[in-house]
Parts: sequence; structure tokens; C-alpha cells
Amino acid sequence: MPGVAIVGAQWGDEGKGKIVDLLTEGADLVARYAGGPNAGHTLVIPNGRGGHDKIVVRLVPSGILWPDTVCVLGSGMVVDPLALSKELDELVAKGLWREGDRRLVLSDRAHMILPFHLLVDGLREKGQFAVGTTKRGIGPAYEDKARRNGVHLGALRDLARMERHVARALDAWTPALQAMGEKVPTPKEVVAAIEPVAARLVPLLGEGSLVVDEAIRAGKRVIFEGAQGTLLDIDHGTYPYVTSSSATSGGACTGIGVGPTAIRRVVGITKAYTTRVGGGPFPTELLDEMGERLRTAGGEFGAVTGRPRRCGWLDLPGLRYARRVNGLTDLIITKLDVLTGLSSIEFCVAYDTPDGRVRDLPLNTLDRAKPVYERLPGWSERIDHARSIGDLPANARAYVERIAAEVGVPLAMVSVGPQREATIRLRDLFA
Ligand code: GDP
Ligand code: IMO
Ligand code: MG
Repeated sequence: MPGVAIVGAQWGDEGKGKIVDLLTEGADLVARYAGGPNAGHTLVIPNGRGGHDKIVVRLVPSGILWPDTVCVLGSGMVVDPLALSKELDELVAKGLWREGDRRLVLSDRAHMILPFHLLVDGLREKGQFAVGTTKRGIGPAYEDKARRNGVHLGALRDLARMERHVARALDAWTPALQAMGEKVPTPKEVVAAIEPVAARLVPLLGEGSLVVDEAIRAGKRVIFEGAQGTLLDIDHGTYPYVTSSSATSGGACTGIGVGPTAIRRVVGITKAYTTRVGGGPFPTELLDEMGERLRTAGGEFGAVTGRPRRCGWLDLPGLRYARRVNGLTDLIITKLDVLTGLSSIEFCVAYDTPDGRVRDLPLNTLDRAKPVYERLPGWSERIDHARSIGDLPANARAYVERIAAEVGVPLAMVSVGPQREATIRLRDLFA
């Protein structure tokens, strides 16, 4: 049975983690297809003492909390072995994963983020061409992959071979490191830094593509978990203010090693407003008190870096663009509760550009485009207890229904709080 892909429809942090965790209750396998520890997916789960615990996963798929679910880190990812090992420590400490448990599968051909990738990322971010990255070494690791100098995660099986591959990568970075006044590490030093975690990770290595294909052919329920968001995609985002991987649904195929027929639904996640972390155009950004209000009410601070997220109104041309480049079949709106208490809610319906008014996202002139806003009346009642669309105040319902109609994609869920149960479910995504 073909699977369900979950993609961010904006600039990341749309609540993908919450939705993947929720859907995993009815799934057998979750495969993450892109990015690395730049992602921060927040999971909020009951702690058995009447409250909730918060867990942030970066590399491990958001399905890990469900004890019978297989979790695959796809070959489209870049994996920092040291960061992964730390993440595993946290999961072991919380009793969510047992040492050596092979329900976690690390694709051999995922690329390694090595300490010099982090170094280069950090140094570049101090310069005049900074992008506002998460400084996790993402860009430099994907650069090595694209210039055929990368080191596969599978190289952990044979550290002598790994040393030769590291030497090849370092050779390419040497001029840049020297120009930045940095000491170039030896391949031996690099391997020695990773060696302490190799024995722990090697038993988890496997053929991710095969594991996913077998699950699909056996009629299992498979989720393809995206990271980042459509507008951060290397090909389809606001270049150069993007990440270095394919965050859109096409990346689910290349990043796992399955064909398009392995996916039958593509679910776009969007907040009820917009946020962005790092540099780059964001036409509906609110630099006033309203932006501050959204940031405070939505807790909009990065899950990875703690940076305040830039906040603004919803961008419907942006969501229509996400529908197009991902082939969205379903839409999920999160954080609707954050808008409670606003007397009115604005949203961008079109853009004024030098070429006139357009309903499509003017990606190539976004920094000069002027959003055209409409507004709808807000609501004051708390909505975090809503479990069906009829539980929402009329104005909240009108807002989400307007969004779905404007994007042209049916609503599958509306999220009204960070917890699993704070969700209005409208469609069974596995039906
Ligand atoms: P991801 O990267 O797409 O997984 O999203 P993040 O975890 O980085 O950021 C989303 C944040 O919003 C997290 O803190 C979630 O716990 C929280 N969240 C998710 N859905 C909702 C919701 O419907 N309402 C509220 N108030 N918070 C939510
Ligand atoms: P999740 O999966 C939000 C942003 C960074 C920066 C740009 C490039 O949690 O939604 P990178 O470190 O990837 O080279 O940074 O991309 N970025 C994200 N923003 N959510 C994310 O992931 C992000 N991953 C990267 O802030 O602007
Ligand atoms: Mg996040």
C-alpha cells in the first residue's frame, strides 16, 4: 500500500513533528527523507502523571515514540554521528529506545556531517554572505555529496576506509579552511572524533530503500516524514536563503529510494499564520506589535537554536505554490489556537508586482512584491478543546474553510494545541 508524505508547506516549523507522531499511532513505518540536525520536530506526549512531556527530535523520525514502529533515516539525509548518538542517549534515558534496537534503520548511503562541516558552516555565518543557517554543518555536508567527496554513513563499518574518504573530502576543503585561518585537521583526527560512536551505530546500518519498499509491498502503513519546508527547498525555495536539500515531496522519492508510485497522498502542513527563521524574503512579516504577539502566543522560538522566529500573516499565494510543487492532496492547519483573541485576522491573497497583481507566488521578485491583504473577523473563545469542526466558533471555522478553498486542497486536520489530542480530524489519511 503506497504511503503518505508529510511536507512543510511554508518555511519549516509548521508542526510536522506533532502530526507525524499523531499519525504514527496507525502506521508501521516512518521514513525521514531529507535534511539533518537542522530540523527540530517537537513531540508533546502524556507523561502518565496527568501532564505532558516535550521531546525534540532532530535526526530520528517522529514516529519513534510508538514502540512497534520502524523508523528509517533515509539516504537523502545528512547525519552527524555525534549528534545522532546524543539523541539516542536522550531516547534511552526516557525509555523510548533500547540500545541496539533495530527498529531504527540508518541508511548506509546517508552522508555524514563531520566536524569540519560544522566549522565551515559556523565560519561562513560570520561573513557578509550569511544565510542565517542553523550552523549544524548541513550546507557543507551536502556540498561534499554534490561534488562527490562525501563520506557515507556506511563508511563507519570500516574506519580505515573511512579515513581515505575523509582525506578526499578534506583535500577539497583545505584551501577554504586555510583562507579562513583555520588549522586543517588530519583525516586520522577526524576519524578519531567519530570512532567512539561507530560501534553503537554500525548495527543499525541498513538498506533503507529496501526496508521501505518491503513495507509498502506487504501492505503496511508508511509515512514519509519531511523536514524543513517548501520555501526552504534547494530547488523550489527562496534561493539562496534555503537549506541544501529537497524538502518538497519529490525529495521523498529520491531521499528514500522509492518511485512516485510509493506515495499516494501528499499532506501539506501549514500554520494558521507564517513564521521563518534565518534570513531571506518574507513579505507578510509583521515587524510591529502584532508580530510580537504571534511570537509570544505561539512560542515562536527555534526548537534547535532558540532563535526568535520571524512572524507574519498567512500567505495564500505561498500555499498555492506549495500545492503545485508538492502535488498536495490534503492540507493540515496547525496552531489555529494561537490566533484566539485577535479582533480580526489578515491574510495575503495576492501580490502586487511590477508586472501587475498576481495570485501566484512571485518567487523571483518576492523581495519587491507587495502583499494584498484581506481580513476576516476573529474570535475570543478558547478553541483548544475543539475536536470537531462544529466545535469551532463560526469565525474560526470560516477562516480555515476559506484557506482550504483558496488553496484548492481539502482539509484533513486542524490542530488547536501542541498535544496529540488537541486535534480536529476530518479525513482518515490511510483510508
Ligand atoms: P516542526 O519542525 O514542523 O516539527 O515544528 P516545530 O516542532 O519546530 O514547531 C512547532 C511548535 O508548535 C512546537 O513547539 C509544537 O509543540 C507546537 N505546536 C504544534 N501544533 C500546535 C498547535 O496546534 N497549537 C499550538 N499552540 N502549538 C502547536
Ligand atoms: P524543521 O524540520 C525552520 C532554515 C535555517 C536557515 C536555512 C538554512 O524543524 O521545520 P541550514 O542549517 O539548513 O543550512 O539553514 O534554513 N532551516 C529551518 N527553519 N525549520 C527547520 O526545520 C529548518 N531547517 C533549516 O534557519 O534559514
Ligand atoms: Mg522545527
